[in-house]
Amino acid sequence: METPLVVGNWKMNPQSEKEAVKIASSSDRRGVVVCPPFPFLSLVKKSVKNCKIGAQNCFFEKKGPYTGEVSSSMIKGLGCDYVIVGHSERRDLLKEDKEMIKKKIEVVVKEGLTPIICIGEIEENTKGLDYIKEQLSGLLSDYLVKKVIIAYEPVFAIGSGKPCDTEEAEKKKVFIKSILAKNYQKGEIVPILYGGSVNAKNGADYIKKAGFDGLLVGGASIKPKEFELLIKNVFKKI
Ligand code: PGA
Repeated sequence: METPLVVGNWKMNPQSEKEAVKIASSSDRRGVVVCPPFPFLSLVKKSVKNCKIGAQNCFFEKKGPYTGEVSSSMIKGLGCDYVIVGHSERRDLLKEDKEMIKKKIEVVVKEGLTPIICIGEIEENTKGLDYIKEQLSGLLSDYLVKKVIIAYEPVFAIGSGKPCDTEEAEKKKVFIKSILAKNYQKGEIVPILYGGSVNAKNGADYIKKAGFDGLLVGGASIKPKEFELLIKNVFKKI
């Protein structure tokens, strides 16, 4: 994986193709991955030259009677390289549990795509470490660990405008690395991104000060000027 990696998670935005193309062009540089909603993936792929594209989700079965779902091979066929798996909004609103997330990771890796697996505690409190440990326990294998990216996204920081303090985030990153290293061969090599209220001002700090391998950016990734500045700051400071 190229580092740093800046991933833009557009969520259920924007509402038109025209806006999607505009956002995509402002994100089009190496080291960036844009994750538009499914209906815009093909168009965005055609309108960018330098950045990679990813999907925000994928179903855990290969094909068949699964109304409304999208398979890993369809995603691959559109030219994607990445899939976000287990985002906290899906865990919460769509009740995605660890079993589903495990199956999704497997299906995505089998397809030759890289899953960006989201983990992170819900509230800002001392039990955060136990929560993260539980989310990671039994999730991967010695084989899978070499094929994934982890995004540490404390839920309290997502969309709240209250990013996690860089020192706190660094502690969590060290903790995640230590669990991975303890449980899997070469577990320490997994790239770890930070996500949660990242903006043009604070983005580079998570990489430069806290030592993250990149960012998972929500709200700021659909504001072309903000995202351009964020990217500029991240790549300038490295
Ligand atoms: P945010 O979202 O940057 O808007 O906080 C991050 C995410 O949900 O991935």
